[in-house]
Amino acid sequence: MENLVSHWNKAFEAPLESLGWYEADPQPAWDLVQNYADKQSSIHLAGAGRSILVHKLWETGFHNLLLSDLSSKALDLLKKDNPEIPTAFFWQTDLSRLWEAQDAEKFDLWLDRAVLHFLIKEEQRLNYFSNLKNSLKPQGRVILGQFALDGAKKCCGLDIYPYDTELYQAYLGSDFKLLEELPYTYFNPKGDPRPYAYAVFEKS
Ligand SMILES: C[S@@+](CC[C@H](N)C(=O)[O-])C[C@H]1O[C@@H](n2cnc3c(N)ncnc32)[C@H](O)[C@@H]1O
Repeated sequence: MENLVSHWNKAFEAPLESLGWYEADPQPAWDLVQNYADKQSSIHLAGAGRSILVHKLWETGFHNLLLSDLSSKALDLLKKDNPEIPTAFFWQTDLSRLWEAQDAEKFDLWLDRAVLHFLIKEEQRLNYFSNLKNSLKPQGRVILGQFALDGAKKCCGLDIYPYDTELYQAYLGSDFKLLEELPYTYFNPKGDPRPYAYAVFEKS
């Protein structure tokens, strides 16, 4: 895992606008957050990276945030990008490892763009979904946006495991109902299309 931390730390040494997943306008996540959360919602941005979404949320009044990432470099830069956000809101963690039970039922919303698809081992995915399910409150929502089945096979030099709505549902289980699904093609800084599968679910 140390290797992966180094991999991501190195990736974040590049200028923000050159990152292969950089979005000047973080759509459709921004619209989905506004539709499925409110300003009191406790929101976990899973694998936040240096997303502009963090700034948009904060300046709009979404102040109940947890900003997690595996990469200490990403989190340091995210703090510098957003000096107004308390440092306690940033958390270095590995989403593919099981969390402590103290994180149970904390969040109204879990949002993950382009992180889950890096978990290529089944055990990592099961741990991730266990963390997600346990840490969401009842009626909590999850927004997942990962590379689609017909999309790119790699990102940032790493293999990815692609998704569609059915696969999200299979991992989430019957306690989660689908609220919306949204295919979305993101164009990376080189202009290459990157089809994503976005979906929103609600926990019962
Ligand atoms: C492609 S970037 C996406 C960042 C951000 N979500 C965005 O949309 O700009 C993937 C992010 O996932 C983080 N990451 C990769 N594996 C992770 C893991 N196992 N646990 C937590 N974060 C991870 C990386 O450090 C990186 O910030």
